[in-house]
Amino acid sequence: MSNLKGKVAIVTGAARGIGAQIAIRLAEDGADVAVCDLKAEWCEETVKALEALGVKAAAFGVNVAESAEVDACVKAVIEKFGKVDIMVNNAGITKDGLLMRMSDADWDAVLNVNLKGTFLFTRAVSRPMMKNKGADGTQLGGVIINIASVVGIMGNAGQANYTASKGGVIALTKTTAKELGSRNIRCNAVAPGFIQSKMTDVLSDEVKKAYMDTIPLKRFGTARDIANAVAWLSGDDAAYVTGQIISVNGGMIG
Ligand code: NAI
Repeated sequence: MSNLKGKVAIVTGAARGIGAQIAIRLAEDGADVAVCDLKAEWCEETVKALEALGVKAAAFGVNVAESAEVDACVKAVIEKFGKVDIMVNNAGITKDGLLMRMSDADWDAVLNVNLKGTFLFTRAVSRPMMKNKGADGTQLGGVIINIASVVGIMGNAGQANYTASKGGVIALTKTTAKELGSRNIRCNAVAPGFIQSKMTDVLSDEVKKAYMDTIPLKRFGTARDIANAVAWLSGDDAAYVTGQIISVNGGMIG
């Protein structure tokens, strides 16, 4: 498949986990990828995997929660690759705890990375995406994909900050789709269920079993399951899809 050949993608939080698999999956479809994470050197493995697939790739260090760093990152990506067509807002953190005992710092940290970070990158890429035009002047626009979560839809005890951030990402996705649709910029979210990763490895066997009991497909998801949905949303097969929340959760919730 090479339906993303000639496209340039930015993927945040792509040093590891779901973000790394998204970067690899987009490269398999032919996209060049700017691999972003807190430290550029953390992205080396992902960049090597992308180069082995024959696409252009480069690492960028950026804290998605810092406005000036995000603007500088998008500028640097455009200097290196010439444009940006696909933006995947994947960087995310958890700082779980019961609401009654949750500190201001833990609330702010999660909202700043997960929600503000998504806003900052969306704002930073929107103007460059508006400028994407075909040789005949057609508006090529771009695609923004936000990684939300099943718990941003249904809530989850012990995750007031995280669920609020992901619920916010879902609302931001719908608003972005409405504001930028006329420029042919599509914005959708993928809401993963329980995905095997460093984020979920830390959960106890008891918690994992409780989740498994709620999953009709009777397996945890893989980063690849999420990456496949992102790849589909990135390409022209999804040309008429915007403002949608695509649940990839083994049937946990409809
Ligand atoms: P992960 O913890 O393995 O990877 C997250 C990446 O984001 C890391 O490389 C980290 O360095 C980076 N990152 C964190 N803060 C950052 C910042 N301020 N600036 C730049 N990069 C930063 O997590 P995982 O599991 O791969 O999750 C990826 C996304 O998927 C997150 O948005 C998460 O909320 C979401 N998700 C994950 C689920 C799961 O079961 N693992 C379920 C639902 C959603």
